[in-house]
Amino acid sequence: MMKKTELIKIYDPQQDAEGVRRAAELLRQGGLVAIPTETVYGLAADACNAEAVRAVYAAKGRPSDNPMIVHIADREMLPELVASAPPAAALLADAFWPGPLTMVLPRSQRVPLTTTGGLESVAVRMPSHPVARAVIRAAGVPLAAPSANRSGSPSPTTYRHCIDDLWGLVDAVVESDDCAVGVESTVVSLLGEVPQILRPGAVTPEDIRRVCGGVTVADAVLHLLPQDAAAPSPGMKYKHYAPAAALTLVAGSQSDYAAYVNGLYGERCRAGEDGGFYAMCFDEDVSLLQAPTISYGAAYDYASQAQNLFDVLRQLDKLEAAEVCVHAPEPEEIGLAVYNRLLRAAAFRVVKL
Ligand code: TXA
Ligand code: MG
Repeated sequence: MMKKTELIKIYDPQQDAEGVRRAAELLRQGGLVAIPTETVYGLAADACNAEAVRAVYAAKGRPSDNPMIVHIADREMLPELVASAPPAAALLADAFWPGPLTMVLPRSQRVPLTTTGGLESVAVRMPSHPVARAVIRAAGVPLAAPSANRSGSPSPTTYRHCIDDLWGLVDAVVESDDCAVGVESTVVSLLGEVPQILRPGAVTPEDIRRVCGGVTVADAVLHLLPQDAAAPSPGMKYKHYAPAAALTLVAGSQSDYAAYVNGLYGERCRAGEDGGFYAMCFDEDVSLLQAPTISYGAAYDYASQAQNLFDVLRQLDKLEAAEVCVHAPEPEEIGLAVYNRLLRAAAFRVVKL
């Protein structure tokens, strides 16, 4: 059933106070509102309203065992959501909240199992985006907010991406600026002895090690889990983005990448099979390549790669790309998050030169 979706303009929470009020009103009534955060846009609903959360799963087409992140605006909102928190939680919150870090902790009874995908743990994050914070505060409730894309498409980093995916399926989309970080938050589990990174993001393993003294990175971040392995984070089981094109990650120097792509493109041209061939590359690669190119940033500017990643993946779908050779990012700093997302988009196809 189609809904009437409102576009609510909030660029500045003070100047656009009426928009904040309207978004909060819809959320308190159990509505679904796409809101900006510093990482990606989220599809928000009252985290403690199971019916509203069920509607989020439905609008996204998301499997109901894939849990949601609960967003708070103030540290005081945390205790009511969790049954307990180890000392590392306070240290990490001091260091990285508000910001792109999500902590997995034992859930309190206040958080419905619908929100946690049936798990006894809950993922909590305090975003730094002023619009997200203003909307959470005005709603007065913690907000469950998965990325505001249809399940299987790249996370949205502009309000237009939200409109493309969710118009007619949600109550409102907030019109605001493009997301500054561009990849989803770091998810760290504090359920074990040592913090474990379940999903890399802008807060790096090194950042967490510095604060907590130790950290591990889940195998699934860089490796395909065996069919029968239990995933520590349900999201790892799912192929995140299923671009229509077959993506391959090509790891190597600028000249090796160019030689590989030019060779393959030449073959495709001779066979008359070059339609839909693209090189998703760095700015510096463009002049060396014979194939059509689409750049996702400068080779050593990991932050810009993160910022552009999802928009470029969406553009490739619009271009009806069929075969894409991606110049693999360095898996360092936020580049690890970019590599992790691309690895999944490429269904783990990697060529190392
Ligand atoms: O940056 C972000 O985190 C964005 C913005 C909107 O805040 N949100 C986001 O949500 O990316 P989503 O739902 O697309 O991804 C949440 C991830 C999933 O991989 C999910 O499996 C994992 O967090 N997760 C949530 N709760 C969990 C839990 N209790 N235990 C383990 N993993 C959990
Ligand atoms: Mg998502």
